[in-house]
Amino acid sequence: MTDGSAPQPERSEPYAFDESTLSAPALPGKVHLSANKFDAYDALMADLLMHSAQCVRQFGDFHLALSGGSTPMPFYEQLMTDPRARSFPWARTHLWMVDERCVPFDHEKSNWRQIEEILVEASGIPKDQIHPMRAYLPDADTRYEKELRDTLGWRERGHDRLDFVLLGMGDEGHTASLFPHSAAQDAQDRLVVFNRGSTVVPPDRLTMTYGLLNASRFIAPLVLGAGKAAMLARIAKKIDDFHEVPILGIAPLAGELKWFIDQAACASA
Ligand code: 6PG
Repeated sequence: MTDGSAPQPERSEPYAFDESTLSAPALPGKVHLSANKFDAYDALMADLLMHSAQCVRQFGDFHLALSGGSTPMPFYEQLMTDPRARSFPWARTHLWMVDERCVPFDHEKSNWRQIEEILVEASGIPKDQIHPMRAYLPDADTRYEKELRDTLGWRERGHDRLDFVLLGMGDEGHTASLFPHSAAQDAQDRLVVFNRGSTVVPPDRLTMTYGLLNASRFIAPLVLGAGKAAMLARIAKKIDDFHEVPILGIAPLAGELKWFIDQAACASA
C-alpha cells in the first residue's frame, strides 16, 4: 500500500507542538486534537485497543466497522505492524464495512480490496467474521442487513449494535456514503441502503444508514490534513443542517462520538 505514495515525514521526526496548547474546533462530541497524523493514529489506536478489550470481556466478541477512502489506510497499516497493537483481539473481532463502492472486489476503487490487502491476511481474523459488502450485487443492501441482524442477533437485546465505527469525512462534509442532499440521508427503518454521490467516483455506493451508525457504542471520525480544515471550521460554526453537511447527522443515541483530528485540519478553525 505504501508503494508510489508521497514521501512521508519520518515517524521519529521531532515535532515542536505541545498538544495541550492546541485549541480544538467546537465539533459535536469529544475532540482529540493531535499535533500530527502519527499522534492521531496513536490516540485512535489506544481507544480502539481499550474498547476492543472491554467488549471482548463483556460480550465475548467485538464488532468493528471500517471506512474506506485514503485517510485511514496508513492507520490500518499501523495496526498491523505496531507492537503495541499485538494484543488486538482479532480472533474475537467481526469486521464490517461502513460503505462500499458498487464495483467488484478486484476493482481498484473497491474499499474492501484495500482493507483485505492490509488487514485480513495479516490479522488472521477468522473467515466467518469478515463481512465485506458485496455492493456489486443488486440485493447487496438487504443481504448486508440480514447479515448484520443475524450476527448481532446473538448479542443480548440492547447490546446488539456495532461497538466501534471508524468514519472519514469528505471535503464537502460527507461521511460513509451519505452525501449532501442524497436519498440515503432520509432512509427510515433501514440499516444499509444504496446511494449515489454526484461528485464522487464511482458515484454508486452502498452505505450504512444514520440509524445503524447512531446506534453504535463508539464512533470515531478520523479527519486529517489541510484539505479538511475549511469543513471543520464550518461545522464548528453550527450553521448547517445534516442534509447540507452529512457528518452532522452522526449523533450516537447511547454511545460516544469522538473525533480524531490533527493540527493541519484545524488551520481555519
Ligand atoms: C469512501 C468512504 C468515505 C471517505 C471520505 C473521506 O468509501 O470513500 O468511506 O466516506 O471516508 O470520502 O475520504 P478520504 O479519506 O479519502 O478523504
